Amino acid sequence: MTAKRIDGKAAALAIRERVAVHVGEFERKAGRPPGLATVLVGEDPASAVDVRSKTRATAEAGMVSFAHNLSDTTTEDELLQLVLDLNADERVDGILVQLPLPNQIDAARVIATIDPSKDVDGFHAMNAGRLATGLDALVPCTPLGCLHLLRQELGDLAGLEAVVVGRSNIVGKPMALLLLGDHATVTIAHSRTRDLPAVVRRADIVVAAVGRAEMIRGDWIKGGATVVDVGINRVPTDDGKGRLVGDVAYDEAAEVAAAITPVPGGVGPMTIAMLMRNTLVAAHRRAGLANPEGL
Ligand code: GUN
Repeated sequence: MTAKRIDGKAAALAIRERVAVHVGEFERKAGRPPGLATVLVGEDPASAVDVRSKTRATAEAGMVSFAHNLSDTTTEDELLQLVLDLNADERVDGILVQLPLPNQIDAARVIATIDPSKDVDGFHAMNAGRLATGLDALVPCTPLGCLHLLRQELGDLAGLEAVVVGRSNIVGKPMALLLLGDHATVTIAHSRTRDLPAVVRRADIVVAAVGRAEMIRGDWIKGGATVVDVGINRVPTDDGKGRLVGDVAYDEAAEVAAAITPVPGGVGPMTIAMLMRNTLVAAHRRAGLANPEGL
């Protein structure tokens, strides 16, 4: 049997189209479009590509993009001042400071300075705490995208065994909280977990977010499981160009799973779609409007 390939690109497109419709309605009610500020410090090529995709998606959704590209010698004080300026700018509903930041800047201080109501990454402790306690929060985009794919694939997640491999603040921890919110039975596994293959084998839902190429093998997957692969790892190839692979050995896992996300074209596009969604939600809350429906 070969698993169904979960089409993250199509799911992301559908969300972005729905966001665009709501953007028009927001603009009519609020008298201005939602705005997203992106901040890129330095010239890391992968980060630059990522930020460009975000600013393009923002414009395509009919929102305003404020792109700030700073040199890699920017000081922490300069970046903190920019964040304060963006906090005070009424046209800005979302602030995204692209990570990682250069070594001279303490990312935790920068995140703590972002107005939580504009924290469309959901990284601020206020939003992390609100998610953990079940209050309305801005939720990190990647796990939110994974949850959307899982609901679309499986419907009700109540009672399912979910194993999240990885415990980062950006993916693993919020992913586990979202699954718990949907009444799954949740295990967070990580690099110190004993007999990781045996833990993963219990799972109806596997979310892999470890950042190690093809670490999770086909014989770790329970028959009929749903696998969501957050990893994006470049591995060398003979032609020198390299190839992107996930944290899951796709071909092996697809032999046993019921459904699995590919890399690329799975979770990746969902992250940007959810950033658009979060910016729209932040704009509504800041304008005192009810949440857009169905997003
Ligand atoms: N770097 C890689 N992914 C992300 C993301 O989702 N948000 C931010 N701020 N930086 C990133």
